[in-house]
Amino acid sequence: MTQKYNAPMKIDVTAGETYSWCSCGLSGEMPLCDGTHKTAETDKRSLKFVPEETKTVYLCACGKTGNAPYCDGTHSKLLS
Ligand code: FES
Repeated sequence: MTQKYNAPMKIDVTAGETYSWCSCGLSGEMPLCDGTHKTAETDKRSLKFVPEETKTVYLCACGKTGNAPYCDGTHSKLLS
């Protein structure tokens, strides 16, 4: 399965809240999970995270980051 996105997505997060990052790329609410992986043929699952600070972050949407859920720049090395 190929990810549809090849760039990070910017979202505002609130300290102490729980977020679920989409790792399968099928969510209709990218970069956050909407549960689509449960009905799709994928073994990928969401990753829950709790930010320590309220701030703007760039979440990975290509699915290849080495620092999930955050973009680490790996998308820039992928073939388009
Ligand atoms: S969007 Fe995945 S590493 Fe940047």
